[in-house]
Amino acid sequence: MTERQSQTIGIFTGGGIAPGLNSVISRATTTLKEHGHKVIGIPDGWAGLLEKRSDVVDLSGMSRRLINELLRKPGTILGSSRTKIKPEKHDQVRQTVAEYGLNGLIAIGGDDTLGQARELHEAKILNVVGVPKTIDNDIIGTDRTFGFETAYHACAERIRSMRHDAESMRRIAFVELMGRKAGWITLYAGKAGAADMTLLREFPIPEAELMERINDIYYDKQGNGHPQRHAVIAVAEGYEHEGTSSEDHSKVDSFGHVKLQGIARNLAKVVEDKLHLDTQVEVVGYHARNGEPVASDAIFASELGAIAGRLAAQEMYGRMVALQGGKFTTIPLSQVAGGRFVTGDFYDRATLGMKDIPFSIDNGAFALQDDLADKID
Ligand code: F6P
Repeated sequence: MTERQSQTIGIFTGGGIAPGLNSVISRATTTLKEHGHKVIGIPDGWAGLLEKRSDVVDLSGMSRRLINELLRKPGTILGSSRTKIKPEKHDQVRQTVAEYGLNGLIAIGGDDTLGQARELHEAKILNVVGVPKTIDNDIIGTDRTFGFETAYHACAERIRSMRHDAESMRRIAFVELMGRKAGWITLYAGKAGAADMTLLREFPIPEAELMERINDIYYDKQGNGHPQRHAVIAVAEGYEHEGTSSEDHSKVDSFGHVKLQGIARNLAKVVEDKLHLDTQVEVVGYHARNGEPVASDAIFASELGAIAGRLAAQEMYGRMVALQGGKFTTIPLSQVAGGRFVTGDFYDRATLGMKDIPFSIDNGAFALQDDLADKID
């Protein structure tokens, strides 16, 4: 497709932050600049499209060094929000788009932000390219979202460090991790952090069984014959114990999502009451998404930004950049819906942890194993 001489493209970030947001902004900007387009940063997600803002960022005017620095910068230089645009505000957005002089927009966000993008795109109010973002790794249509690796890395570190405390103090440590209703962060961090048990909303365990399993781990005999007398348990913030979640209904965002926090504390109380063992609770919370992106996330996010920039330059709007089967692709925004949750292909209900070999291992890898087996007597 041929490119327009010069477009003005907006970029914004919506929803909760994820490490790598600034990396996307960085590479989308340089790509668009290379193609002769002007790039502006819209502040505060969809809120920045409800009226023309004076704090718009002139991204194409930033120096090369500053743009490069963005690759590793935590948070988002544009600010973010969970603002939702109601249908009665559509005309207001249309006017703001005209006032900014926008030909298109790169929307970096999760399910909600991109669902809103689809709505405005289909209403012909705005030309949008979507970039999937969330530490939760649960967006349908892409195998991976940037920020996820950084998040589970930080969470695994916290699980590992809690081992020292729990072991010394002879306690059961519950480490509560973000992910909303999807257990990916907890699954990966639980494995990498060597948690004794990983609890996901997707696989609730009846209380009697849970207490028995925790008791078994606590008194499990070590090599020296003594019981280990501690346990480290990774629990997803969305986990529901006996059908009860830890939703805080006093805090609801404009997309209707309630805050989730407190399941670790609830489980600790059950252990104290039923098993009469000491517990400790560690809520990793926002720490999971606040750091600099790990190198692989910075690179992945910058690649997504470069592709989004290319799409906008070529006026290929209405699509989301995605990674499928190890390859970059795009999918229509209309296909970005719902959430992607942990299944039995990844979680082992017997060990209450990640499966050692997920189903995704391909035949080539098995063949390699067989070859090796032939060489070992
Ligand atoms: O969706 C990303 C996420 O970080 C979830 O893991 C978490 O439940 C939620 O956002 C917290 O968001 P907020 O910024 O609204 O507290």
